[in-house]
Amino acid sequence: MTTITSITTEDRTEWLALWNGYLSFYESELDEEITAATFERLVDSHSGIHGALARDENGAAVGIVHWLTHPATWTTADYCYLEDLFVAPDVRGGGVGRALIAHVRGWAEQHGSAKVYWLTAESNTTARGLYDHVASRSGMIHYQIGLD
Ligand SMILES: CC(C)(COP(=O)(O)OP(=O)(O)OC[C@H]1O[C@@H](n2cnc3c(N)ncnc32)[C@H](O)[C@@H]1OP(=O)(O)O)[C@@H](O)C(=O)NCCC(=O)NCCS
Repeated sequence: MTTITSITTEDRTEWLALWNGYLSFYESELDEEITAATFERLVDSHSGIHGALARDENGAAVGIVHWLTHPATWTTADYCYLEDLFVAPDVRGGGVGRALIAHVRGWAEQHGSAKVYWLTAESNTTARGLYDHVASRSGMIHYQIGLD
């Protein structure tokens, strides 16, 4: 059985292992200061960044999800953006990812958000296999301007 709880300072080591797994999945590296700042904001209830950790029946950390909300012009309610989702490779396919998304959905409902949304790579067929079950595609294409 999966248990999902808010990330706390005590979770730092387990969170870090999952976060590093997530960065590796994206073949990315971040400065240690950024990772440290991200964790600080996750455990700071006033930062606006939220995180939850999934544990298996033995208490082992097996997944993380991070999200934030922002105001919107098309509604007076906030939108909830799910930014990061990662499940440990050895427990994939067991419903942890689905449970983490459901957790964010529940949080967003409780906090009056108008919707939960997220981005994924078109090529991420595994993640999309899950997303097609729990959400609908917006049809939007993502553009960006990187600023130094
Ligand atoms: C995407 C990810 C979070 C899914 O986590 P998970 O715990 O394996 O997902 P679940 O077990 O809850 O998946 C449920 C559904 O997703 C689909 N799914 C899961 N793994 C799949 C796979 N390998 N191939 C195809 N579909 C898959 C299935 O439809 C499954 O439904 P079912 O249980 O009815 O068969 C996980 O694969 C992961 O961490 N991947 C690497 C990081 C990543 O891609 N993150 C998302 C970035 S946007």
